[in-house]
Order: sequence, then C-alpha cells, then structure tokens
Amino acid sequence: MTAVSLLLMAVCATSALAESSVYFREQFEDGDAWKSRWIESKHKSDYGKFVLSAGKFYGDAEKDKGLQTSQDAHFYASSARFDDFSNKGQPLVIQFTVKHEQSIDCGGGYIKLFPSEVNQEDMHGDSVYNIMFGPDICGPGTKKVHVIFNYKGKNHLINKDIRCKDDEFTHLYTLVVNPDNTYEVKIDNKKVESGNLEDDWDFLPPKKIKDPEAKKPEDWDDREKIPDPDDKKPEDWDKPENIPDPDAKKPEDWDDEMDGEWEPPMIANPDYKGEWKANEIDNPAYKGKWIHPEIDNPEYTADPEIYKYDSVGVIGLDLWQVKSGTIFDNFLITNDPSLAEEVGNDTWGKTKDAERKMKEGQDEEERKKREEEDKKRKEDEKEEDEDEEEERDEEEEEEEEEEDGEEPELEEEEDESPDSVKDEL
Ligand SMILES: *[C@@H]1O[C@H](CO)[C@@H](O)[C@H](O)[C@H]1NC(C)=O
Repeated sequence: MTAVSLLLMAVCATSALAESSVYFREQFEDGDAWKSRWIESKHKSDYGKFVLSAGKFYGDAEKDKGLQTSQDAHFYASSARFDDFSNKGQPLVIQFTVKHEQSIDCGGGYIKLFPSEVNQEDMHGDSVYNIMFGPDICGPGTKKVHVIFNYKGKNHLINKDIRCKDDEFTHLYTLVVNPDNTYEVKIDNKKVESGNLEDDWDFLPPKKIKDPEAKKPEDWDDREKIPDPDDKKPEDWDKPENIPDPDAKKPEDWDDEMDGEWEPPMIANPDYKGEWKANEIDNPAYKGKWIHPEIDNPEYTADPEIYKYDSVGVIGLDLWQVKSGTIFDNFLITNDPSLAEEVGNDTWGKTKDAERKMKEGQDEEERKKREEEDKKRKEDEKEEDEDEEEERDEEEEEEEEEEDGEEPELEEEEDESPDSVKDEL
C-alpha cells in the first residue's frame, strides 16, 4: 500500500492538472480484512468459496495473495463496493491479474463492473452490469478476452477476437475506455487490441444502408466475358462418346442361333471431343459490377457518449469454473491509464519473474522425482524378471521330467511360487 500511496502522490505532484483518481484498489495484503470488503451473493445457496492464497508458486508469498476459487464445478459470486462515480469526460481503466495455476480447462477469469444500485447480496448471472472484462477459457475452442458493454440496456460483445493467456502464470489484464469513444485492451502491459467503440461493437445501427429505392437497371450487363459469337463448332466435332471395340473378335465357339447375334463390346472413343463450347471473349457491353448505392440510415443517430456510465460502484466476480484454482489479484479502477501501467509494473511486473522461477524449480524437482521413480521401477522390474526366469527354468525341468514318463508329482502346485513348491517337497 505504501508504495502505491507514494506513487499516487508522485503522480499528483508531477501533473497537477491531470487529476488522478483511484476509485478502487484491492491488493489483499491485510489478512482476513478482505472478508469485510467482499460480499458473497446469497442468490444461490451453493456458491463456491473464495479463499485467500498466493497459490502453489508465486513471486512473493504475501504480495501475490489473492482471491482463489477453491471448489471444482461451482459458481462463484462475490463483489466489492466503492464510492459511486461516473466516467463522464474521463478515461476509465479497469485492471487486475488472473492466474490459472491449475491449468484451467473451462472457467471464467473476468470481472463485472456494476452500477452502484446492484444488490450485492443478490448479485447473479443476470444482474445488470456496465462492463464485463477479462479472460474466458473453455476447452481448446474458447480462449478469449471478453469486452462486453451494456449500452442502453443491452449487452454488446466485441466484434474482434482477442486471445487470452492460457498458461499457469499470473497475467495482467487492462481495459482503457476513453471519453473520445476509443478503447485499448492490454495484457501484461502490452497493447493487444485497440480501436473505436462504434466500429468494434454493434452499439448503433449502421451509418449507411443500401438505398431501398435503387434497383439494378434491366439492361445492365454485368457479364465480364461472353462466348465469342464468331466462334463456330468445327464440322467434324461431333463424334460418339463410345464405339464398338474394333479389335474385338467374335469368339470361335459363338453360336448365332444359341447366343444371338454377336456384338463387339463398346469402348471409349479416342476421337470423342466432348461438348463444344465457344471461346470466351471480353464482353464489349460489360458495364462493371453493379454497386448498390447507399444512403444515410434514417435509423442511425450518432452518440458521442457511448463510453459513458452514469454510475459505477461495484466490482464483482461472477463466474463458473470446472477446475478451480484461479487467483484474482491487484484490482485497480482508475481514470489514469499511465498510473495503471505503473501500478501494473509495480505489482505484477515485480513478481512475475520470481513466480516463473519458482514454478520452474518445482517442475524441475518434479521431473527429478519422476526420473528416480522410473529408475526404481525399472530396477524392480528387472529383479522380477530375473525371478521369473528362475521360475521358468524350474518349470521347464519339471516338464522335461513329465515327458520322460516320470510321475507328475507337482502338477497341482504348478502355479505356485518355487519357494512353496520347495516347502511341499
Ligand atoms: C512499465 O514497464 C515497462 C517495461 O519495463 C516500461 O517500458 C514502461 O515505461 C513502464 N511504464 C511505466 C508507466 O512506468
């Protein structure tokens, strides 16, 4: 917290004009206190439990603690409240980290930003939200970053496909929505998508539509090529497709009276040329492709404030996970994109390398353990093989004795181990 406060002061001091506001910040660095800030919904009775954990591997045992989903195949619904604000006239930045350390098969990793009127105790999948943002994975087919905006009561998904991270490490997700109706999505502080709200979502009907009055003129010739009218079919073109085989001979034992009149079998005619088609030439009357003229769409009204929400007051995790273990941390909602970038550098950026190192160390140990187990198993198998060989040798001796006509004394004990056979003797 201190580092961030200092950072905030520094930012405010250096740029007095750009008033940085941090609307919400959650680092989970004060023990169990988060439980008073995050409210679990009671909409269902069996929501999965979030627990505070840095996971199996981390860069910093304390700083990397976050909310971890702890039960497989459960819905989760918890949220935290902050002072209500509107993003009118300023950027809105939503940032958080997600770590699917369980190598997730199917589950959400996104947040929802709600208007403050939402009832946290009853928050659920159909609760009206402003923005839904973050990774979503389900099987190999779905690995995307959702950016869904509620616009005039309807949820709109982004038209572009933004791929999310699907490894086991912590990643930083950032959404910036600007008052000029542009946006940017960043993963690990690198831009992965950006553009214009109007272009990349279907908030508004199209600006232009095809003129319903316009029709293609009847005499509009849009054939680029036509058959050459001067091209004529050669007189000797038409030949039958099949002809009697000239090499076929009537079998000598053919009896016209008994077998009927002999006919040679048919074969494909080598002179057959197929259907005749005139050469294609450029159509002298070609007018080009007819383009349907467009007019301004009477349904369209520009909206310079698509980005704007009058009330933002709650952030929630409302998701389903098949395999649990995802850790959410480093939540930040601010109006200052560069502050968010700095905070990202200062949190995720500082622990990511150590996290990777710890994981690699664990993987290496795991690999060594497996190798030793493999080695031990192979040695055990070798010993068993040798035992079996001895057993086989003895059995063979017995069989030989049987073949020699001797009393098969040990027949009943054949399946038993050589030791017990010896005991019997
Ligand atoms: C964040 O870190 C990156 C990589 O080290 C650096 O290029 C960038 O300037 C940093 N951003 C801020 C705002 O400090």
